[in-house]
Amino acid sequence: MRIIRAKDYKDMSRKAANIISAQVILKPDSVLGLATGSSPIGTYEQLVKWYEKGDLDFADVTTVNLDEYYGMKPENDQSYHYFMHDHFFDHVNIDPSRINLPNGMEPDEEKECARYDAVLRSVGDVDIQLLGIGRNGHIGFNEPADDFTYGTHVVTLTADTIEANARFFKSADEVPRQAVSMGIGNIMAAKCVVLVATGENKAKAVYDTIRGPITPRVPASVLQLHPCCVILTDREAGKLMLEE
Ligand code: F6R
Repeated sequence: MRIIRAKDYKDMSRKAANIISAQVILKPDSVLGLATGSSPIGTYEQLVKWYEKGDLDFADVTTVNLDEYYGMKPENDQSYHYFMHDHFFDHVNIDPSRINLPNGMEPDEEKECARYDAVLRSVGDVDIQLLGIGRNGHIGFNEPADDFTYGTHVVTLTADTIEANARFFKSADEVPRQAVSMGIGNIMAAKCVVLVATGENKAKAVYDTIRGPITPRVPASVLQLHPCCVILTDREAGKLMLEE
């Protein structure tokens, strides 16, 4: 694991964007695994800026997103489809046919999970998987559990995640209770993983991920086993690493 403690959110976002940029420059037909949430917004902003300057070309890039709320229409402004278009896809020259996200509107859970796993197989190896981390150590929507999940699955969100995500909705009651998510096996299959963590409320999850035991109770702790994993934090999220 490579741990980089940036000085602030902007610095962290630029560093994450730099890693993704280098990947896309070196391999223009890269497969990028993407995340939503507040943590990667600055990374997308920076990538869009460099695209606008002419430094980056996404024409041959393929993307696969980690997750989507289950039962939420893509046009809902809280959906992850909407988020990705709003923060990234609509601002760069990505080919819409190369954008892949789980479909939260497929009523048959098994069918959708099998479809998305087939998509993941068909795009080939993910070159870089961008991740955020939940306060409870979740990655994607792999919540703390007794076992690590393997493939795409429908997950029931924990009370902590519902509370954390309520900030994006009018109230916690409106936060969907389920999501379709890549499994830990899907995430671990990426060639490289870049996790961005910002703010003091992530410090414990970051510490447990890096220094704690590898356990499905802290799903991100499995990244200790990944051969190419970068954990990028701002000062606050990396704070407990310094207090050892
Ligand atoms: C989003 C995702 C989640 C978030 C995590 C942190 O696609 O998979 O694991 O990365 O919930 O969210 P923020 O960044 O909003 O704190």
